[in-house]
Amino acid sequence: MSKCVLVTGGAGYIGSHTTVELTAAGYDVVIADDLSNSDMSGVEGVRAITGKEIPFVEMNCLDREAMEKLFSDYKIDAVIHFAAFKAVGESVAEPLKYYSNNVETFVTLLQTAAKFGVDNIVFSSSATVYGQPDVLPATEQTPRKPATSPYGNTKQMCEDILRDTVAASASLKGIALRYFNPIGAHPSALIGELPKGVPNNLVPFITQTAAGVRECLSVFGDDYNTPDGSCLRDYIDVVDLAKAHVTAVSRMLDGKNKERYEIFNIGTGRAVSVLELVNTFEKVNNLKLNYKIVGRRPGDVESVWADTTLAETELGWKAERSLDDTLKCAWEWEKRVRGL
Ligand code: WQD
Repeated sequence: MSKCVLVTGGAGYIGSHTTVELTAAGYDVVIADDLSNSDMSGVEGVRAITGKEIPFVEMNCLDREAMEKLFSDYKIDAVIHFAAFKAVGESVAEPLKYYSNNVETFVTLLQTAAKFGVDNIVFSSSATVYGQPDVLPATEQTPRKPATSPYGNTKQMCEDILRDTVAASASLKGIALRYFNPIGAHPSALIGELPKGVPNNLVPFITQTAAGVRECLSVFGDDYNTPDGSCLRDYIDVVDLAKAHVTAVSRMLDGKNKERYEIFNIGTGRAVSVLELVNTFEKVNNLKLNYKIVGRRPGDVESVWADTTLAETELGWKAERSLDDTLKCAWEWEKRVRGL
């Protein structure tokens, strides 16, 4: 019988892509999402790609009663917890919204999982926990830096909550995946990132500028201590990232984990500058992007990229998609959304 994975936040950007890959790998999936930062188009896209009527439950993960009903309606074997808010600036303005929605929900989820004997949890963490590392690339042993936003703090807190809950349990297993910069969209262009309002992240801003929704991309700083002066990041294709979740779930369900709580970096291991990304987007999509160099964005780190050795050796996972293909898919998705 297929194992069933609960994907919280499964209507969202990374959750929807992960649901597709879990289904392709033979798992049953149930999606729980309150649609606060997404809509049914993600679920419909997943159903169209997989050809399966993936069950969807509209609920907030803070709602303990709804959560318990979910765990009694479905025989869940593992949970991937994506449901969270992710806007750094908003988290500074409204910290309690973030502590409640990101931390309280995770506690509720872990309590419910314990009550129903569900022992396998994957948590969506972020490279943001490293801040500006002193040594690059960042390994999983690289010290975490004090968080510079409530958003970043919730990621650190949830990692610690998972670690401590695993330590106190005789059987619980947990994996935290630290994502670098997720970008791109499904090659079908049926699912992708749908930011509400003005995008904070680089790639949605680029694709919206190319589509004429935004007038001009601002490149934040060209005076960093990097080869071309713009910031360096590790951009990971969302389909590759989704597959990392499948390997993490399988590792726990197959009893292959070495420790009951484990952390993995999920990136490409390659540093790409903002200007290199912009130039690659122009080249592969054969267009010119309207952009200008402006001052640095407060709070940005200069450079961060992953050492992915552990994910490769332990999970047997490696990023496969090229930046060219990823940026082509990002553009195909934007064009579809805009009807271009
Ligand atoms: C990437 C690079 C910008 C926009 C953030 C969060 C992190 C994570 C992912 C999310 C930087 C530059 C950007 C623009 C630009 N969490 N840039 N013009 O800042 O690395 O990480 O998103 O859930 O926690 O902090 O990603 O995409 O915002 O920026 O020049 O209009 O692009 O300065 O160098 P970042 P990003």
